[in-house]
Amino acid sequence: MKKPAILTTALLVTYTLLLTACGGAQTNTATSSTNTATNTTTTSTSGAIPIGIAFAQTTNVALLGQEGFVGTKLAEKYFNDQGGINGTPIKLVTQDTGGDEAGAINAFQTLINKSKVVGIVGPTLSQQAFSADPIADRAKVPVIGASNTAKGIPEIGDYVARVSAGIDTVAPNSIKAALKQNPQIKKVAVFYAQNDAFNKSETEIFQKTVKDMGLEVVTVQKFQTSDTDFQSQVTNALNLKPDLALVSGLAVDGGNLVKQLRELGYKGVIVGGNGFNTSNIFSICKASCDGILVAQAYSPESPGAINKAFYKTYLDQYQKVPAQLSAQSFTAVQVYVEALKALDQKTKINTIPLEQLRIELNKQLLTGKYNTPLGEISFTPTGDVVQKEFYVSQIKMDPNGTSGKFTLIK
Ligand code: ALA
Repeated sequence: MKKPAILTTALLVTYTLLLTACGGAQTNTATSSTNTATNTTTTSTSGAIPIGIAFAQTTNVALLGQEGFVGTKLAEKYFNDQGGINGTPIKLVTQDTGGDEAGAINAFQTLINKSKVVGIVGPTLSQQAFSADPIADRAKVPVIGASNTAKGIPEIGDYVARVSAGIDTVAPNSIKAALKQNPQIKKVAVFYAQNDAFNKSETEIFQKTVKDMGLEVVTVQKFQTSDTDFQSQVTNALNLKPDLALVSGLAVDGGNLVKQLRELGYKGVIVGGNGFNTSNIFSICKASCDGILVAQAYSPESPGAINKAFYKTYLDQYQKVPAQLSAQSFTAVQVYVEALKALDQKTKINTIPLEQLRIELNKQLLTGKYNTPLGEISFTPTGDVVQKEFYVSQIKMDPNGTSGKFTLIK
């Protein structure tokens, strides 16, 4: 059974401005969940090839989702400048999913049935993916997750893959880095957002990792992604004098929890999960973000021509180093582009009916090897990413306490 939709109430950020800055994506707000038309069309793709992008542009989840949009827009320009699909450009069709399951479902239905996309990149949260991906899977429309890291995402169905490495591969690295920085760590306080699939999945990995390393979990404190006050969880934990705090939350709730941990006197090491993997949290935890360790699936310093090009374009446009989620979403579009090119070389894709093209595209993308900003990747038969390198970063805040950066730990 799916959990009921959690309505994120705080409209903290609206990133239409950002999309405009990225070159004016076609953005339609999903409004209806009643579009249940089945995919019986045999319309061939003509003109630009539509790829669906379903990320959160509104609600707190936009702190993660907007970085996804940025990466896809850079990819659209980059690959079209290189000739698109053997001369035919791609065209991103974007949908705002908002932060909940209903928004993601609406966005997927619109992209599949109205926009007639060949495949979808998204949604932002695993919590959304568990509801929306089965819709695409049933319609035989490929989905590439670019930020979904919970256990079980590729297993949703044959048409679901991801380029965002799962937390079981990535998350333990940050705890190992914490121990390297402070070998005296013994007592661990765990915090996690219990209403979110990815955070529940991540805390299991975190807790297993610390137990395997012989550390003691002194408390497990739960919260909701919609919470803003964490005093009771923090006080409960601080009474037990932990020297490591593991926080699995999304950017806003996680950032606020860290802020309150520091304000209430916690001096130990903090490891943040994948929800912390955005510079957008700097404005939430401010100076208290300083020192947080976060595991990464992307290094801005990764060698390779495509990462250098991606890095430079991103830096020129946004005056900061690329975010992991942007690198991953760029990669997801790249996978579609290269798989479509390979297909097109066998049979001109504008001669293949859409339903057939989606099926062929899904088969093709799973067999390829891709040189991406994440390094060389491929997929397991179930659609999980096979990636070679992972990293850990530490947040260094500037003295002003509002800007900062993720610094890779060597
Ligand atoms: N990594 C987060 C998730 O999977 C964003 O939900």
